[in-house]
Amino acid sequence: MAIRIDYTNMLSPHVPGGIEAGVWEDARARFADARRVFEERRAAGELGFITLAEGHPSIAELRRFADGAGQAFNDVVVLGIGGSALGTIALRSALASTRWNELSDEQRDFYPRLHVLDNVDPTTIAPLLDRLDLGSTLFIVISKSGSTAETMAQYLIVRGRLEAALQDGFQRHLVFITDPERGALRAIARAERIVSLDVPPNVGGRFSVLSAVGLLPAALIGIDVPALLDGAADMARRCQGDALEQNPAGVFAMLQWLADMRLGLGTQVLMPYSDALRDMGDWFVQLWAESLGKLRSGTEPVGPTPLAAVGATDQHSQVQLFMEGPRNKTVTFVAVGELACDLEIPKLHTDVRELGYLGGHRLGELLDAERRATAGALAKRGRPNMTITLDRVDAWHLGGLIMLFEMATIYAGALYGIDPLDQPGVELGKQYTYALLGRADAEDARREWESLPRPDPRLSV
Ligand code: PA5
Repeated sequence: MAIRIDYTNMLSPHVPGGIEAGVWEDARARFADARRVFEERRAAGELGFITLAEGHPSIAELRRFADGAGQAFNDVVVLGIGGSALGTIALRSALASTRWNELSDEQRDFYPRLHVLDNVDPTTIAPLLDRLDLGSTLFIVISKSGSTAETMAQYLIVRGRLEAALQDGFQRHLVFITDPERGALRAIARAERIVSLDVPPNVGGRFSVLSAVGLLPAALIGIDVPALLDGAADMARRCQGDALEQNPAGVFAMLQWLADMRLGLGTQVLMPYSDALRDMGDWFVQLWAESLGKLRSGTEPVGPTPLAAVGATDQHSQVQLFMEGPRNKTVTFVAVGELACDLEIPKLHTDVRELGYLGGHRLGELLDAERRATAGALAKRGRPNMTITLDRVDAWHLGGLIMLFEMATIYAGALYGIDPLDQPGVELGKQYTYALLGRADAEDARREWESLPRPDPRLSV
């Protein structure tokens, strides 16, 4: 069981215009500073996501619930957004199936279907709610703050339907995952004795997938939670060493930071060659973007722009841009050593040049060859790239990959000189939304909104 990063193709002379040997040498000293910042934050108790891997007390509670009352449901619906949803989607695709909800009860081993509503588009929500049998559905409302407008609106709609359909006992169809003390959801849970689990106060939304946020839905569909945590704990150990070259999170963060700051490669693509890992791309994009896109010292905008792609599919979409478009990108491939299954390509049409060479190979071999070929072609064109290889896609390796990226985010934050744990940039838009919908405490935001320039009809076609 292993996760390795091969970064040969990030460095010069392997890649023309890559990171120079001298710069990589100097990075060691720079990493010592990042390690110091990391350790200070850890000692201050701010990096709760690392200790999650050692098993938070609520894990035992959530497993009890998942193995007991939780098994009474045919459908589980997560209501949440951002960090409260993306990790669950990624875990479901990787460790259950990309088509989990389409499988029959037998194929799902009688575990429930798992739906994640991470938007407030009524054209998604209404058809799902109309289709579900509410009597056999569990709704997990996930909001650390307990006040996010999108999730609260979903909750109100669901609660209205549950009350109307089930009257007494509808509370058994709700679980809240929220801050242990603060917020409206916690207060409602207490007042109405609704089952609730904690998001530890020192674990931010996008770092919360290994808390009850991701693990309750995972446990409900039979994902191996202890293996996820073991893999994460193993990676957490590897990523706390002082020697840069032995520290996978340090290497990933340092290479991306150097690529951005020294080479102008600020667009950073994550490209798994695996359908199972497709949704890890969206999870990573949120983690990297919301954590690192910041104003340094309150005024200077910094941060990489993450992009998700999937191989081989995007070879027929984005790879042209990666290969010949602006030289402003790094590409991180994710390769899988051993696939869950494979298919041999039959030796048919052996006399047709375009088809004959494929016969006798396996699809997994083709997928891997395409990845290696794309990495080599990018390198040849002077486009730095690296490859993270997982021996296989299972709970242990997923836990490790998640921890690697989370810890890399903290190191990258230290290198950029910003706080990767906050997200002040999303606040103003939230305040304007409250103002538009008439929230009582949004008077200042309403006045500010009204002072903004109105749409000019001449500037509309
Ligand atoms: O990473 C974050 O902090 C955010 O993306 C949150 O997860 C998102 O805004 C949802 O917040 P909450 O869990 O408070 O509803």
